Amino acid sequence: MIPDRWFVLSVRSPSEQLNNELAEGLIALGGASVEEDLDLLTSYYLPPDDPAAFARAAQEHLERLVDRRLEVVWRWEAHTDWAEAWRRGLKPRRVGRIVVTPSWAEPEPGPDELVIVVDPEMAFGTGEHATTRGALRLLQEALRPGDRVLDIGTGSGILAIAAAELGSGPVLAVEADGDAIENARDNLRRNGVDTRVTLEHAFVDREFLERRGPGAYDLILGNILSGVLRPLLPAFHDALAAGGRLVIGGILEEEADDMIEAAEAAGFELRTEDLEDEWWGALCVRTATARPSA
Ligand SMILES: C[S@@+](CC[C@H](N)C(=O)[O-])C[C@H]1O[C@@H](n2cnc3c(N)ncnc32)[C@H](O)[C@@H]1O
Repeated sequence: MIPDRWFVLSVRSPSEQLNNELAEGLIALGGASVEEDLDLLTSYYLPPDDPAAFARAAQEHLERLVDRRLEVVWRWEAHTDWAEAWRRGLKPRRVGRIVVTPSWAEPEPGPDELVIVVDPEMAFGTGEHATTRGALRLLQEALRPGDRVLDIGTGSGILAIAAAELGSGPVLAVEADGDAIENARDNLRRNGVDTRVTLEHAFVDREFLERRGPGAYDLILGNILSGVLRPLLPAFHDALAAGGRLVIGGILEEEADDMIEAAEAAGFELRTEDLEDEWWGALCVRTATARPSA
């Protein structure tokens, strides 16, 4: 049960060498975790019946543990919904000419900027994610007006929304996770693109792509994981029309060389690479030459 307030106990550590022992002592008293701020160690407890007695007993316990006199203080702190506080702290983020914003912020877009409203829920895909920002940068380079787009693992729907806002043709956004689908549906509606983006709850595999027919798309977006993307590369090649483009992301920098090799073997040419922190992504173009059979 979450209390409406927490009993917060802090102890000043007389020496850095004693920090671990004191932290373990705070946990042993029932604290969930310990915050360290320089020499001050703090833990949160369910409200004790007698706070002053609890603090005295805690002090004696900690002093016995490190065999020193200690300074211990306590206070009450009202319970905060940290998840809600984090949500409220989100700010609009600029990625190229796209401004990604939660619905409660009011960004002031420049004349050439597009605002996309994405409220973070359970689904992955906000302006806070490096892989999403990378995919958004590559998408802006890749997209041509009227493109038929397939967004695999749409999460919050962010890439599908961006594609539609940038002037694509029809977009099919597919997501395997049922909770994420609901978040994506809300976000499509928020951005007024729910008639241009079709949302499908499905797991994308080779058969899924084959059912769409050869050359069904001009642009495929997949910000997933290399383990999901790599085996699908030949099927992406077949699902793309001549000159079609593929944006991949969610790949660790150390996996990039393997991914490039696999994409080239599947009949793609590397056009642009994107790196933010350790996350790598790429824009690849389907080459005219037929891929070697997989
Ligand atoms: C890293 S998130 C990307 C979300 C969003 N597209 C973005 O760029 O921020 C990957 C999403 O792909 C979904 N996913 C993973 N494998 C999938 C598959 N084979 N078919 C459909 N969705 C998949 C996950 O559930 C997750 O929501």
